[in-house]
Amino acid sequence: MTTSLAIVLAAGQGTRMRSRLPKVMHEVGKKPMFAHVLQTAHDAGVGKSAIVIGPDADALHKLLQAAFCDTLVYVQRERLGTGHAVLAAKDAISNDVGKVIVLYGDVPLIRAETVRAMLGKLDELDLVVLGFEADEPHGYGRLVTGAGGALLAIREEKDANEGEKAIRLCNSGLMAFHASGAVQALEGLKNTNAQGEYYLTDLVETYVSAGRKVGFLKGAADEVAGVNNRAQLSEAEGIFQNRKRLQTMLDGVTMTAPETVFFSADTHIEPDVTIEPNVVFGAGVTVKSGARIRAFSYLEGAHVGEGAEVGPYARLREGTELGEKAKVGNFVETKKARVEAGAKINHLSYIGDAFVGAGANIGAGTITCNYDGFLKYQTTIGAGAFVGSNSALVAPVRIGEGAYIGSGSVITHDVAPDALAVARGRQVEKPDWAKGFRAEKKRLKEEKR
Ligand code: UD1
Ligand code: CA
Repeated sequence: MTTSLAIVLAAGQGTRMRSRLPKVMHEVGKKPMFAHVLQTAHDAGVGKSAIVIGPDADALHKLLQAAFCDTLVYVQRERLGTGHAVLAAKDAISNDVGKVIVLYGDVPLIRAETVRAMLGKLDELDLVVLGFEADEPHGYGRLVTGAGGALLAIREEKDANEGEKAIRLCNSGLMAFHASGAVQALEGLKNTNAQGEYYLTDLVETYVSAGRKVGFLKGAADEVAGVNNRAQLSEAEGIFQNRKRLQTMLDGVTMTAPETVFFSADTHIEPDVTIEPNVVFGAGVTVKSGARIRAFSYLEGAHVGEGAEVGPYARLREGTELGEKAKVGNFVETKKARVEAGAKINHLSYIGDAFVGAGANIGAGTITCNYDGFLKYQTTIGAGAFVGSNSALVAPVRIGEGAYIGSGSVITHDVAPDALAVARGRQVEKPDWAKGFRAEKKRLKEEKR
């Protein structure tokens, strides 16, 4: 059976990013750009994927090996152009590959529908290019068309004459073709051009002169936007955020000020969740139906259960799991904390490395002291327990189910279920002490006059 293959070009140096990190590792929606492209190829039903990286991209190579083991990795030793880069992955174009699509690792916003449309077009054509109408065509390759709009060639800016430079129909860089005959055509490319590079784009003329059928599709400018510097990275981020906001609302989530809410690529929010203004979703957040995320909250690596309430001003860190109808209120930070159904941590707390049982009530200012400067320890609070305000729970420690902790306690020993633990100075009262104190002070002051 034949499959399709995506080749993601990512060997560019990305000097304009002014970064130690390979360009395609820079993130949009907290996800590396190349990973967006691989995901899109996968979503479009492309069966196999390959990525071409530069020789000096160790961090990228390691990340690919660790987290993208289904992707074939090829190293382009010398950066001799886009055509040369595709050839670096020629071993991936094997007998079982029917259609090939070339994508760019620094064009992260391409849509799965577009990839599908390009591959679909190969049912009538031998090669298809994704073009777009640019307001500012400068720097792009131009699609040179002939009678009836037939694609004849792609001319790079540096090789274009004045007439060609006036063309606004540009090459996005994406190209799809049948595997059959492609390697041979790529190997026939010449580098007799202004940049002395082997241009993938010259494949168009090669195909045209061989009488093979070529054509193009037009994409939207927002999906072909390439990232060459940090300003463009932030533009891509903006486009991504707007898409994700729209999709989230169409999926049934209420947002009063969507333009102030920031998502990660992997944020998953169920229908009938309400998100108030100024909320940030870092990587790895899922929110179940009926939950409410109130204003100015920051969540990452957290799961919010059905009907739970978070914030305003809450910070949920990695490993937070809120059960059904749990509540985490203002100025509360949680980390590696499992908060069971209906439990409440309403004000000014730090709950880390902790288990909070169902229905427990954690008073204002409660702190789990989970760290001794060397190691971290666990705090377990049983279901239905009541922790009085301003208590310090010095881990490792267990509070039994239904137990009470007196306010202001520093709890260093386990507390039995249903017991009351109070660990603070006992209150002493001296009747009329203040009267005597004032009289004595007054006398001393008069003596000094
Ligand atoms: C390329 C296209 C141009 C198009 C533009 C869209 C060619 C010859 N030109 O130009 O028509 O309008 O993209 O942005 O294809 N790469 C490698 N190895 C190389 C060279 C490039 O992997 O030796 C990768 C880069 O990492 C990048 C992509 O290919 O992802 C495009 O390379 P770049 O140098 O940016 O091409 P442009 O000159 O912008
Ligand atoms: Ca480019």
